[in-house]
Amino acid sequence: MEYLSTADIREKYLSFFEAKGCKRMPSSSLIPDDPSLLLTSAGMVQFKPYFLQQKHLEAPYVGTTTVQKCVRTNDIDIIGTTGRHLSFFEMLGNFSFGDYFKEEMCAWAYELSTEVLGLPAERLYFTVYLDDDETIEIWKKLGVPDDHISRLGEEDNFWRAGPTGPCGPCSEIYFDQGEQYGCGSPDCAPGCDCDRFLEYWNLVFTQYDGQEDGTLAPLPKKNIDTGMGLERMAAIMQGVQTNYETDVLRSLVAVGERLCGVVYGAAPESDLSLRIMADHSRSVAFMIADGILPSNEGRGYVLRRLLRRAVMKGHLLGLDKPFLNEYVDEIVRLMGQVYPEIIDNRELAGRVILSEEERFGATLRQGRAFLDEALSGLEGTTLPGEQAFTLHDTYGFPVEVTREMCEERGIEVDVDGFTRCMDQQKARARAASKDADKAWSTYGGIMNDILEETGATEFVGYTKNEAEVRVVGLARCGKRVEALVAGESGELVVDVTPFYAEKGGQVGDIGVFTNAEATARVTNTQEPEKGLIAHDITVENGRIAVGDELHAVIDAPRRARICRNHTATHILHWALRQVLGDHVKQAGSFVSENRLRFDFTHFEATTPEQVAEVERLANEKIMENHAARAYETSLASAREAGVMALFGEKYGEFVRVLDLEGFSQELCGGTHVSATSEIGFVKITSESSVGANLRRVEAVTSFDALAYMNRVESELKETAEELRVPLFDVSERTALNLKSLKEMQTKLKRNKQVGAEDRIAEVASLAVAAKEGYAIIIANVGEADAGGLRNAWDVLRARTPELGAVVLAARKDDAPILLAAGTPEAVEAGFNAGAVIKAIGSCIKGGGGGKAEMAQAGGKDASGIDAALEAAREMLL
Ligand code: SER
Repeated sequence: MEYLSTADIREKYLSFFEAKGCKRMPSSSLIPDDPSLLLTSAGMVQFKPYFLQQKHLEAPYVGTTTVQKCVRTNDIDIIGTTGRHLSFFEMLGNFSFGDYFKEEMCAWAYELSTEVLGLPAERLYFTVYLDDDETIEIWKKLGVPDDHISRLGEEDNFWRAGPTGPCGPCSEIYFDQGEQYGCGSPDCAPGCDCDRFLEYWNLVFTQYDGQEDGTLAPLPKKNIDTGMGLERMAAIMQGVQTNYETDVLRSLVAVGERLCGVVYGAAPESDLSLRIMADHSRSVAFMIADGILPSNEGRGYVLRRLLRRAVMKGHLLGLDKPFLNEYVDEIVRLMGQVYPEIIDNRELAGRVILSEEERFGATLRQGRAFLDEALSGLEGTTLPGEQAFTLHDTYGFPVEVTREMCEERGIEVDVDGFTRCMDQQKARARAASKDADKAWSTYGGIMNDILEETGATEFVGYTKNEAEVRVVGLARCGKRVEALVAGESGELVVDVTPFYAEKGGQVGDIGVFTNAEATARVTNTQEPEKGLIAHDITVENGRIAVGDELHAVIDAPRRARICRNHTATHILHWALRQVLGDHVKQAGSFVSENRLRFDFTHFEATTPEQVAEVERLANEKIMENHAARAYETSLASAREAGVMALFGEKYGEFVRVLDLEGFSQELCGGTHVSATSEIGFVKITSESSVGANLRRVEAVTSFDALAYMNRVESELKETAEELRVPLFDVSERTALNLKSLKEMQTKLKRNKQVGAEDRIAEVASLAVAAKEGYAIIIANVGEADAGGLRNAWDVLRARTPELGAVVLAARKDDAPILLAAGTPEAVEAGFNAGAVIKAIGSCIKGGGGGKAEMAQAGGKDASGIDAALEAAREMLL
């Protein structure tokens, strides 16, 4: 076999199928356009609508061919332990949507394998689905001997992308790497877990559409979906044992060798780490390039886990500084040409990775210390679930990581115990949030009963503010009741309601239920069970009983304000993406009648200019008065229309879309204005960080925006009046005032100091004594610090020309200080400040020293000051 690089194989495959009439198409994003899938894990994902005949390929193409970037983490535990499992890999594929089928596909696969790539036919093995005799016959006709064909079951030879959707039986092609790679078992054959028979190509005959109930509905046409693992084929064509020794991955393994100073092949443990670092860093770089950011849920969590796992492995090899970006540089160099998005997003990836690594690095060290302590005190060989939970909750260790770290020391983790702790925490969080509202949890059972008896509540509030309704259930203090009378509060369920129940960040409606005899005020509306709307009411007069007919009216002006704020969040979402980039995703929101809050993913602080631009763009869209149209549609067609879905949200078959004409389409069940100008004006009141890679804008609209601006203005006016300057000079004047205040404070301090020096000088001048040739002062000056004493020496010298030396003592907050100083002349005549301080310092239990001209000491015993000065006098006079 001729050596082929990864790039050669990629190109040979794609051009082979192009020559057969397939259209070469680009890889799709790792974020699938399909809320039922977390990540793109196969080449067929972008073609689901084609298999379902919702989309069609233009003539004259017979199919498509792609190289697809894929991330799969279902076998994360074995990645690195085998040579052929990867979390990131490239899949070469070709796809037919009702055109060519088995016969052509098998022939082409055989041709590409044996003629284009030159694989020896005797080393190829073929598996087919249990009863697929037709495919067996096709392989035989191509010259494959009987003993190179075998039948495998559902697990190996029936392929599905997920629980539902296009699927079908498949035939797989294996390459015999040689007996030396085998497990040696007499049963070893294609499908065995060992490394001998390497499955490199999967041909799926996509004939079915898997249904929710598990049945298989035939697809309108028979299709082909094939996937060849590029890294696996590279291993074959490069004659190496594992994917990690192929050109691209080996270069990444080399990055680790260089960083950690270890040699690949030296020891199984370090090899495992080097492999995992090489593999995971590709997933990390490509996921970020497609707009995924580390978080605690969904695909963000997959990314965080992979990143942390790689960091952890580096840590085990002695790396204690961020290092993953070294890999990204190499990935960009190796793969940037094929996937330019990793070049375009290099900076983003760099920043996200660095900030995540730094954050994790700090907790990693603390977490390891915690784990070391836990393990050293461990009895038995199982780490309790609570401790794994603490590592997760406090130190951010994914449980898999804890498990691996324990495994290294032969310790197991009680994963069930860990899961229990997680569930308890979730339950606590749920209870806490319910308690904060109202104890709906205690009503759960009742509400479920009502739902089962009466069915879901019909919500008519998208179009109506009022409705004629019938009471179907009542509850009070956790019990079902038949009626509520004046003064009583409880929960009311009706058959049809215009009241919007709190959902999707939008608060519940308030309003009133009335009939000729009774009035009940609604203080909140919630959905305690999916589909069941319950109104929190207080009966003001009369009596309300199950079966009563009532007139329901929401507080429409309040609802109108909520609608303005809700539509404004969609506009802000759009504007944030324009200004900050497409990585901005909604992470949460809150919409009430007087304000809104929008949380979004973003990896660094925003600038005031960016926030101003977001606000400007949002207001531009408001003023342009775009129609806001909400409509129901099927999830599939919403997806096809490119409507933005909230990730992590599970949608039913039918969804509601808010379409802001011309610029924003999002799935949303909330209530909205009918044209953007109804919002009037949106004002961002704050922008801040609310967690790792998570930021928040808060804003007000319409009259609340006006009230906010008025308040700002009146504060400013008041300040201007106080300052007696025109309104727009306030900041300049304030800056000036602050500056002069500072100057005055400095002056004041200086004056105080001068005052102190004068006082010291005065005290000292009373103690002048004569020495041969010069005068000397030995005195206790009272309260002063060392600086004060030195300044006093300068002042005294200036004032008293004949002064040759001083020995001064003082105390600062009970701590004694001594200073001795002399002029050069005095030193010439024998004065030595250092010697004096050395001799008398012990009297104040202190130490210090200096030169002949100046020396000082601080001490602990102020009561020794007099003794010190006496000693000085004795010594000097
Ligand atoms: N969808 C199949 C696979 O992923 C073939 O492309 O294996």
